[in-house]
Amino acid sequence: MRLCNLLVISTDVHLAAELIEKNCHFCTWSQGTNNTLVHTCIYSMRVASKNTMLSIRFLLCCFGAVASVQSAPITITRETFAACRPGSWANIPVECCPPKTIEGPIVDFKPDFHPSKPLRVRKALQCLAGEELEIYTQKLYKGYALMRALPDSDPRSFMRQNQIHCAYGTGSFVQDGSTNLTMDIHLNWFFLPWHRLFVYFHERILQKLLNDADFSLHFWNFDNSEEADGDGDGCYKAGHFVPPVYADLEAPTFERNRTSRAFDPANPVYLDLLSTDPRLGQPVFHNYTVEEAVRGNKRIMHRAVAQVHDVVAFVGRPRRVGDPQILDASDGAGTLEWWPHITLHNWVGGFMFQTQTAPLDPIFYIMHANVERLWKVWRSLSPANVDPADPDFLDAAFLLWDENAVLRRIRVRDVLHTEALGYTYEKVNDASWIFFDNSTYDP
Ligand code: C2O
Repeated sequence: MRLCNLLVISTDVHLAAELIEKNCHFCTWSQGTNNTLVHTCIYSMRVASKNTMLSIRFLLCCFGAVASVQSAPITITRETFAACRPGSWANIPVECCPPKTIEGPIVDFKPDFHPSKPLRVRKALQCLAGEELEIYTQKLYKGYALMRALPDSDPRSFMRQNQIHCAYGTGSFVQDGSTNLTMDIHLNWFFLPWHRLFVYFHERILQKLLNDADFSLHFWNFDNSEEADGDGDGCYKAGHFVPPVYADLEAPTFERNRTSRAFDPANPVYLDLLSTDPRLGQPVFHNYTVEEAVRGNKRIMHRAVAQVHDVVAFVGRPRRVGDPQILDASDGAGTLEWWPHITLHNWVGGFMFQTQTAPLDPIFYIMHANVERLWKVWRSLSPANVDPADPDFLDAAFLLWDENAVLRRIRVRDVLHTEALGYTYEKVNDASWIFFDNSTYDP
């Protein structure tokens, strides 16, 4: 729990930022000037430097919520676009800034879906069959063919959607007024809302291109590796294979830049990879049997979603104005972002392996639809499972182009519930991992 924000009076800012997260709760309060709560703490820390252990003193001041310094929500503005610069991912330089000058207005996005209307349902792809599957496949292919045909000058084009994800994901956007602090949508608490939004506008662009406002981007139910009987309502087939509509070599939903793992229709996904930091190089997926994959997947889903009741652990580490970029997944990612999400990016591989290319594989969007569905599932599992109530989370604002190529400003607080956005998800067999018994697991 974060009880105070600390202002570092002296010493290395990044190291101190670490300390602040870890030691904040040691501060006690006292009344300061100007109605602020102030406490000065002295920490003695041992840090490694030039191979020796040095004792360094940090002088830290704590300010309470009434203090007028420090904490503010990250917001993306016209200036952010103007100041966009080349970024990097795993030390690979990348160049993916959108045009620096925004033509036209930026229009605030407010969900305006009327609660009396029926919600659109994003369905589990593995249960589509017969005529429904046929019609859906034709629409999906047509939508992607049209999207791929848009010129690069159109911000709704397939290429430009990849580009904006890249800019948000590789440190290309710097915080307004800063020269080195970035705005990032991975490895922190923005991961879930930002990607929901990204998929939401992707879907709206498909709807617009298809001239079909009811079109839904159905999802890849990769977490369910168990067939069940169900109660007649929902989809109870296992979904842990690459959905065939994304595996047809001739289709515009296909991307050949995937690893061989993803080409074998009989090979289930494998989510249970514990050391999967992509910065350490290509992860190694050992040979596993279907049975091992099923068991491992249930186990990791149970651990990453069902067992987690700590908000920061699940949603990811806070990210505010003034915070430096987090580069180590174990430092910032919530459990859902890390497993199954990063693991699955690696498992599909190819374009999906790197932030700067992942959305060039259409499978990205159905995978992310399921990730944000799992966020909903998590909230439903316990009254303790709630989103952060911190204004620095709720009031953070992003810019993305909508289906009419208008740039929209969206606040996190407006995308926390899919119902407000007009859609929901088909019921599926989450019980396959919710009730997994970890105690019997023999790794
Ligand atoms: Cu922005 Cu799955 O990544």
